[in-house]
Amino acid sequence: MRLLMVCLGNICRSPLAEGAVRAHLDRHGLDWVEVDSAGTGGWHAGEPPDRRSIAVAASFGVDIRAQRARKLVRADFTHFDWLLCADHSVLRDVRAAAPAEARERAVLLLDWAGQGTDAEIPDPYTGDAEDFRRVWTLVDAAAAGIVARIARAASGRIPG
Ligand code: 4NP
Repeated sequence: MRLLMVCLGNICRSPLAEGAVRAHLDRHGLDWVEVDSAGTGGWHAGEPPDRRSIAVAASFGVDIRAQRARKLVRADFTHFDWLLCADHSVLRDVRAAAPAEARERAVLLLDWAGQGTDAEIPDPYTGDAEDFRRVWTLVDAAAAGIVARIARAASGRIPG
């Protein structure tokens, strides 16, 4: 299973989502699940995550400093099983760029993770540390939901 976390800049939300999901997968020994992240925009390509994302992740024991931002590319639509989007605007852009075959595999991260319907992860870029902490809370809950979903699928009770 291959999961791509997608936001706008790939420096705030999706690096936190990648870090949280990796941490939960590690904890459960789910080493066959691949996780990566990307942004619909390329303005920050090559940069490490925003220092506020690095700080909030570190405060919860997760090191995301080695991540580097990149823009979503066409190959992502074939490589990844699911493109898990931070909000409706990102989802719209990802679906618009997707080949028809992949469109249904672009979904809202929180929905896919069982954390509510139409739920968004608000963009914290122009916000403060508290906004970043809120993003962490959301992606950490999503990571737990993803592990539960994968565990259920692996046990054959629901399709992945
Ligand atoms: P992200 O936040 O999508 O969560 O990484 C943003 C980062 C950068 C910009 C916007 C949102 N920007 O406009 O540069």
